[in-house]
Amino acid sequence: MPIDVRPYDGTARDFLAAAETAFGEHLRDDDAAIFAPVFEADRSIGTWDRDRLVGTASAFSFELTVPGGVLPAAGVTMVGVHPTHRRRGALRRMMRMQLDDVRARGEPLAILWASEGSIYQRFGYGLATLRARIGVQRHRSSFARPHAPSGEMRFVSVDEAKRLFPPIHDAILPSRPGFFHRTPAFWDETLHDPEHWRHGAGAAFHVVHEVAGTPDGYARYRIKDQWDEGGPNSTLVVNEMLATNPAAHLDLWRFLLDVDLIGKIEAWNVAPDDPLILAALEPRRLGLGLADGIWLRVVDVASALAGRRYLADGQLVIEVHDEFCDWNDGRWSLRVEAGVPLVEPTAAAADLACDVTDLGAAYLGGFTFRQLADAGRIEELAPGGVSRADALFRTERAPWCPKVF
Ligand SMILES: CC(C)(COP(=O)(O)OP(=O)(O)OC[C@H]1O[C@@H](n2cnc3c(N)ncnc32)[C@H](O)[C@@H]1OP(=O)(O)O)[C@@H](O)C(=O)NCCC(=O)NCCS
Repeated sequence: MPIDVRPYDGTARDFLAAAETAFGEHLRDDDAAIFAPVFEADRSIGTWDRDRLVGTASAFSFELTVPGGVLPAAGVTMVGVHPTHRRRGALRRMMRMQLDDVRARGEPLAILWASEGSIYQRFGYGLATLRARIGVQRHRSSFARPHAPSGEMRFVSVDEAKRLFPPIHDAILPSRPGFFHRTPAFWDETLHDPEHWRHGAGAAFHVVHEVAGTPDGYARYRIKDQWDEGGPNSTLVVNEMLATNPAAHLDLWRFLLDVDLIGKIEAWNVAPDDPLILAALEPRRLGLGLADGIWLRVVDVASALAGRRYLADGQLVIEVHDEFCDWNDGRWSLRVEAGVPLVEPTAAAADLACDVTDLGAAYLGGFTFRQLADAGRIEELAPGGVSRADALFRTERAPWCPKVF
């Protein structure tokens, strides 16, 4: 039987159930309850075999921090096709419908976390941010310099966390490309803590860092309890840790690294430029690893390039190849004056040629054009073209996305 791909018009619960099947999971009632308020039915697409929903793709309406500003972006999510219907083109058709819809909504960007990096590049997504993993033995986690705490730590309830965490997050949001605004329903989802999300650890702990009673940082973590012949050897797993200033940030790390009865501290989504790396006495002992963060698709080259800011003035012509969204395909002139860009199509000779995936990789400042050239991904067409591009696109901080969606 042929499959039919069309806008979804059913319930959040049925959609989630179908997506869970694609991910090899079964729907649970509490997950359905937490998912329903964040679900955007009018941005959801279903693949049907007769009356059976066998494929899903949805998106959240995000406000994404980009260098020097904020842009509407589609947060692509719940993409899955049942194993009974795989490799029959369902994903390709859903991606087509979704990207056309994103464009029609006037969103210049789409972002996603990929289960496998090989899936989305064919649809124009480029690796835009990295995340660092850390796994450090508590007794090897000293700082290089003496540490004097700037404030105090306090345990808070989940309800307090829902009240105290968002303003801290939102204070950081404008300065870190890759952050997106979380609605209250998204915070409920962030702090949702069912047993099957804990992977053998206990319920989450929530702490705030305060200076004179004013919170300026928070952490959420779990403890995987373990006692060996030699004594306590538990693992502390950091879910999320954010602070509005460097002193609070280091205080939070020191707190997390010093909890008693812990053998090892693990964090799986840390900014790749986290100050801990330079604060540590033994950086190698942090067990640093790098992995892909969010993938970004430039859906509309003109409005995406015009929608961010640049740290230098200059002029650049980029030849963009975009097979899947041909409205982007062609040469684009970017002229920046006093940090403000003017973008227009051009017939002028190009400084460099790149695939739209590579523009996505460079867009937030996660990768330089030099890195992309060294990886054999882009081509310099005019002498100095790569350096000129990097002078324009460079950012002060590495982009980072603290939340998987
Ligand atoms: C990934 C998934 C959605 C693909 O769906 P699908 O309907 O089988 O994909 P399609 O038949 O439309 O394939 C589209 C293209 O992607 C390729 N592709 C699909 N899945 C792939 C994968 N996991 N790895 C690499 N390539 C993949 C296909 O070969 C095809 O390539 P082509 O167009 O160049 O011929 C599906 O396998 C799935 O649900 N997997 C489990 C859940 C998951 O990982 N979802 C993604 C969440 S981020």
